[in-house]
This record gives sequence, C-alpha cells and structure tokens, in this order.
Amino acid sequence: MIMKELNLDWSNLSFGYMKADYNVRCYYRNGEWSEVEVSDSEHITLHMAATCLHYGQEAFEGLKAFRGKDGKVRIFRLEANAERLQSTCDGIMMPQLPTEKFREMVTKVVKMNERFVPPYESGASLYIRPLLIGTGAQVGVHPADEYLFMVFVMPVGPYFKGGFAANPYVVIRQYDRSAPLGTGIYKVGGNYAASMKANKLAHDLGYSCEFYLDAKEKKYIDECGAANFFGIKDNTYVTPKSTSILPSITNKSLMQLAEDMGMKVERRQIPIEELDTFEEAGACGTAAVISPIERIDDLEMKRSYVIAKDGKPGPICRKLYDTLRGIQYGDIEDRYGWVTIVE
Ligand code: PLP
Ligand code: COI
Repeated sequence: MIMKELNLDWSNLSFGYMKADYNVRCYYRNGEWSEVEVSDSEHITLHMAATCLHYGQEAFEGLKAFRGKDGKVRIFRLEANAERLQSTCDGIMMPQLPTEKFREMVTKVVKMNERFVPPYESGASLYIRPLLIGTGAQVGVHPADEYLFMVFVMPVGPYFKGGFAANPYVVIRQYDRSAPLGTGIYKVGGNYAASMKANKLAHDLGYSCEFYLDAKEKKYIDECGAANFFGIKDNTYVTPKSTSILPSITNKSLMQLAEDMGMKVERRQIPIEELDTFEEAGACGTAAVISPIERIDDLEMKRSYVIAKDGKPGPICRKLYDTLRGIQYGDIEDRYGWVTIVE
C-alpha cells in the first residue's frame, strides 16, 4: 500500500480526536464474533433501543503505539489491555472478546493507519481506542444479544498540560466516580459520565485534574481523574489498593520497573494525611504516562499537601518515566515481552 505522507505538526499535538484513514469492526451475533471488517467511515448506525444507549452497556480501552528510532512501530501491552477488556465484559455482562481477535484488530488498524504514527523525535504517539457496545435492542434492563467491537486510532500529544511537568490537583469530596462495589474496576463509560462534574469543578478552580478519595469513608486515596496514583518515599513505591479504581496497566508496569530499580513496592490503603510524607508522587496512565504531582489541595479541609517543593518533577519520577518511555519507543530492552512490533 502506498501511503501519502502526512504533514502534521507532530511535536505540538494535543490529546484529542483526529480522523485517521481506517477503523476496524467486528460483530457479535448468534453467539459468534464475525470476521473483521475495515471501514473508512467515522459513523455507525444504531438501533434506537441499543443497550449501550440506554443502560450504558459499553466498554472501552486505551493503549498506544510508538515509532522507534529504528522506524519500527511498537504497541505497548496489548495482551494486558485485551485481558482488562475481558474483565470489563464479565463485569457488565457482555460476551468476552478473545485476545487473538483483539490482537488481530489492533495490529491491523495500526498497520492500516501507519502514516498517523508520529515520528520518533516528536515524542508523540498513536492512541488506540477499542470500543465494545451493546447494539441489540432491549427496553427492559437486560444484556443485549448483539454487540459491535471497533478500534480506531489517532495521533496524540500530552494529556496534561506541559507533558512531564509537575501539576496541582484538588480533592473533590462532593462527587464520587464509583462505589466501593460498583463499576470503578471496569473501563465502562458510566464511570466517566460520573466524573464529568468533578472534572469540570477541578478545571474551573484552576487545577489539572480532580483527585478522588474512597467513596465510603472519604479517608483513603483512590485515583486522580483518569489516572492511578503512586507516591514515593523511603525507596518505596506506594500505590492504593481499592475496589473502586481502574487496574492501570501503566501502574502495573511502573511497579515492575520500581522493583527492578531496587525499590520496595506496596499496594495498600493510603490515608490522605500520608500525602505529607511522600518525597514524590505522580498520576499514571496510558494517556497521562507519568504526570508528576506538584501538590494536592483539600479545600474543604483547608489543607494543602505540597509534594514537589521546588515545583519540579523528582528524580525517581524522572527515572521511571525515562525507563517506561525507553521501553515503549524501543530504546531500552523489552525484558518482559510488553511490546508487540507491528510487522
Ligand atoms: N484510571 C482511570 C479511571 C483511567 O481511565 C485510566 C486510563 O486508562 C487509568 C486509571 C490508567 O490506566 P492505564 O494505565 O491502563 O491506561
Ligand atoms: C487512557 O489513559 O487510556 C484513558 O482512557 C484516559 C481517557 C479517559 C482519556
């Protein structure tokens, strides 16, 4: 296939939607997943009683592809994303998409849109958005009998202002994104709808992002908007254990890298007051990568937890960031088989 080169300002991309050339789709009908179809349309046709529209029977994923110095395109932790989608499927009663189908579709859509994968030097990447929706009609609250799974892509830059720069966060106590035994551990759209007022409030107050505490006691750290939290102290990487946060694949990767760097890793409840004791902290996720935390303000309690005293990212955040990015771009050996090279 001959592809026309794109003339984009790769180094100044924001995190937003952009039309690529193709998307891929497959349908679940009569208990089976169909063959993969390729489309150049940005639109889908839906039954007005589709369960995704009324009862939120939908799930999504987010992963990235990177172009290396060697020109090769690498997709990061594809299998882990397939497995999380399967867990989400179980959580809201959708049929599981097999990992092989996920792999076939993700690699195909990246290959077909290769001219949208940003060049190595830009520091940008290709964001891959898999989406699974209930398309069968129901008016009673029941799972659909038909589903559409699709994957589309777009080149993106940093999710938070300034990329790898320390940012301020604000504790939001008046809204919860998910309940302790709710859907927070799944990547379903409803959690994000539930987060929009908190996110708007945080932005209106001049913060990068909202910071959630556990919904039941408002005592322990949950997560930072669409990213997990980690704190660093005494050569230890500490991250929350909670039944209402998304199991972040970036966080899982960082726990491994921290261990490789000789740090201890703790996954446990973190009382908000413990923020005072961290030498460094960050928000992590596919979109966020690592966003170092400058400070967290708890306005209702009239407290401010200042973490980056000089307003700059700390050395451990920097090392974790460089190692993660190094593996993603192919500059550092992929010891754990996290990377799929698109052939
Ligand atoms: N938490 C939430 C609520 C998210 O939406 C995301 C983004 O996917 C994350 C955490 C980070 O997860 P991951 O590292 O798998 O992208
Ligand atoms: C991601 O990091 O992949 C996310 O899903 C964040 C997104 C909600 C913008």
